[in-house]
Amino acid sequence: MRNVYVLSADTTKYGKSPLSARELALQASKKAILDAEISPADIQASFIANAFSLAEKQGHLGPIIMSGLGIPDVPASTIESACASGASAIREAWINIGAGIYDCMLVVGVEKVSQLDTITATTYFSFGSDFVFEGACGASFPGLYGAIARSHITKYGTTEEQLASVAVKNHANAMSNPNAHFHKRISIEDVMKSPVIASPLKLYDACPFSDGAAAAILCSEDFLKKTGRKSSEKVLIRGSGRAGGTGALFQREDLTTLNAAVMAGREAFKMAGLSQKDIDFAEVHDCFTVAELVAEEDLGFARRGQAAKLTQEGYTKIGGELPVNPSGGLKAKGHPVGATGVGQVVEVFEQLHGKAGERQVEDARIALTHNVGATGGSCGVHIFELT
Ligand SMILES: CC(C)(COP(=O)(O)OP(=O)(O)OC[C@H]1O[C@@H](n2cnc3c(N)ncnc32)[C@H](O)[C@@H]1OP(=O)(O)O)[C@@H](O)C(=O)NCCC(=O)NCCS
Repeated sequence: MRNVYVLSADTTKYGKSPLSARELALQASKKAILDAEISPADIQASFIANAFSLAEKQGHLGPIIMSGLGIPDVPASTIESACASGASAIREAWINIGAGIYDCMLVVGVEKVSQLDTITATTYFSFGSDFVFEGACGASFPGLYGAIARSHITKYGTTEEQLASVAVKNHANAMSNPNAHFHKRISIEDVMKSPVIASPLKLYDACPFSDGAAAAILCSEDFLKKTGRKSSEKVLIRGSGRAGGTGALFQREDLTTLNAAVMAGREAFKMAGLSQKDIDFAEVHDCFTVAELVAEEDLGFARRGQAAKLTQEGYTKIGGELPVNPSGGLKAKGHPVGATGVGQVVEVFEQLHGKAGERQVEDARIALTHNVGATGGSCGVHIFELT
């Protein structure tokens, strides 16, 4: 495999948007192309990370986005792995460039769902679960993650206040992220008093339904040289891990771990030749507060059952031993499903270049992203280094 670099990464604002998926994707893509100082004609192929474009009665986003960029001849395919569509698209582009098929690719993740009411959006999202055994039986994602939270509480004695501390931290981090869905500081008390959505999870334990897009230009070392840039100025994808898991929770023996995340994490660390201690910060998939704790344990950042205590003690805040979700995470930055995994790369890119403003993680050189599809049917983990 050849080295693969992130040449640029940029995003739209997340939240409720009047724009369509096509418009959001074009906005993010044009920003990434401008940041990379390349021409659209340099893009040889593209992957579009998207899960629910049919909610806008539009499939096959690739040609629409490429036409909008003035490059209709460029092959573009949608990668759909529910909420892990972004990491899956990054992984596929990494394979294509690493294998020498292409030198320059656009990965753009996008989602537009705010036109749907809550029940319709919840139903669409549950198409990403094992719909026959879960969604169709009334088990929505809040319900499924509620079961995961209940298991974590039962097995490890995790408290609802400890879950709330994840939301408080991530809302605080999002305050200085101009592209975040929420700019609202909250307290443990606010979380505890918010309405229960799927016991033990409450409103503030959940990520919102967000619209948004994020894009990244990935390239080979040869392409970097052509642009006149030194590889030493760029972000290397040092490790890539991707694994699957059972679609439904009833097929699992233990709900407090996602096997796909454990396996993808191991693959990424092994490929990078690094250990958990080498990571300066992580962007993990906190679709519900409990998911951040499970991620930290699955990735080996915390011993089983210990992540809640570490969060409460400030270990994962900006300035702590391992900042987690300095962007605000899915919880507060937002979760435009297809965009999420690519948006994590945007945060990594900004942080590694020291451009994250007030939420900057000091001396960040190596970062990890962790993006989960549904309740762990898919997971992608990537490790990035400013070389
Ligand atoms: C929690 C949830 C049910 C709330 O939806 P809702 O009841 O329709 O909420 P509304 O859109 O009516 O918003 C009501 C208020 O709560 C706020 N809000 C909505 N979701 C929120 C969230 N997740 N966190 C914090 N605030 C939230 C809104 O901003 C709004 O505030 P305002 O009255 O000050 O404007 C919905 O956000 C949800 O299902 N989230 C999970 C999405 C999901 O499953 N994603 C996939 C993960 S695998």
